[in-house]
Amino acid sequence: MGRHEIHCRYFSQEDLLGSGCLDLSMAMEASKEAIKSFHAGDIIFPEKIVQIFNDDTQERINCLPATFKKDGICGVKWVSVFPPNPAKHGIQNLSAVIILSEIEHGFPIAFMEGTLCSNMRVGAMGALAARYLAREDSTTIGIIGAGEQAKMHLIAMKTAIPSLRECFVAAKSVSEEEEFVRQMSPIVPDMQVSGTETSLEAAVSPADIIVTATSAQAPLLKAAWIRPGAFYSHVGGWEDEFAVAKLCDKIVCDDWNTVKHRTQTLSRMYQEGKLSDDDIHADLVDLVTGKKAGRESPDERIYFNAVGLAYTDIAIAYAMYLRAREAGMGQDLKIQHEMIFEHLHLKDWVRT
Ligand SMILES: NC(=O)c1ccc[n+]([C@@H]2O[C@H](COP(=O)([O-])OP(=O)(O)OC[C@H]3O[C@@H](n4cnc5c(N)ncnc54)[C@H](O)[C@@H]3O)[C@@H](O)[C@H]2O)c1
Repeated sequence: MGRHEIHCRYFSQEDLLGSGCLDLSMAMEASKEAIKSFHAGDIIFPEKIVQIFNDDTQERINCLPATFKKDGICGVKWVSVFPPNPAKHGIQNLSAVIILSEIEHGFPIAFMEGTLCSNMRVGAMGALAARYLAREDSTTIGIIGAGEQAKMHLIAMKTAIPSLRECFVAAKSVSEEEEFVRQMSPIVPDMQVSGTETSLEAAVSPADIIVTATSAQAPLLKAAWIRPGAFYSHVGGWEDEFAVAKLCDKIVCDDWNTVKHRTQTLSRMYQEGKLSDDDIHADLVDLVTGKKAGRESPDERIYFNAVGLAYTDIAIAYAMYLRAREAGMGQDLKIQHEMIFEHLHLKDWVRT
């Protein structure tokens, strides 16, 4: 190996899956530690860079970096969000890749598929919140939406609350619900997974845990359907009527200061003067560090909204990298053999 060779490891989605990286416990633990590190000042977390290509459809590519000083890891998620993709082309909306570098010499160590990590992060945040906010004896989950986030959320919630036995899913079409049932039933074999023939109320009204993960921008979830003791994880944009947040005894966010400047239901309420800082019980960090209480009674209805703390993506990606490398997965990528002017044949390659 040449003195100036630089190598990094490439992991496809299949490499990551094959080495056991679809592990929501691992993702929850990585997210929890990352939240604590961030609040201890151990993470460099610059603003994301957003490039929007179409204002109407919001087709965009975002660049989200973060550095974990103690681990000596700097990473970036390069994520494409193309909302028309599913309806127009029958392909996924979100796709991502992640680069990790060490910060001793500054060289890249991994280039990996990032959609799996990105979707796991969304599920892990909801599941981490559920650990503190859902009833530990919850048996029933009701999900509105049957897409990628809804599926990952089911695995995440089952990991956080193993007593779950029944899942009802309501989507825009029966065929999507059927696909959800077909794909998810073998993954959660001790659960009964059923569609509701698009009845949102039928999915939600028996549920101890409610998830909305839709592409709708409409008040789908009604306060009247939410039973006492329910925990609600809001994943999409605007998908519940304002009365839901008003009904809930506690509102918790991953980070309220970020949420209030976005376009989620809570953000809309804040911007319309219908919700104030005082209405927010806690951020996730307050629960993780024990600064604030989670659930305090079996009858509380609790609302959780996460819009995404991108440093947690890098924390999960690093945990995946360590596991996949340990399993011997991935391929070596040679970035360079030697430094530019060390190449013996450089004179033949230079164009002047
Ligand atoms: N909070 C976060 O950190 C985060 C991260 C990624 C994505 N998201 C959001 O999560 C949402 C879901 O993403 P996805 O990748 O699962 O999308 P997807 O396109 O795979 O699935 C969307 C689902 O919404 C359902 N839906 C749409 N309108 C509906 C209606 N009126 N009634 C019932 N169901 C309806 C569709 O049937 C579909 O099952 C999107 O809004 C996305 O922007 C949030």
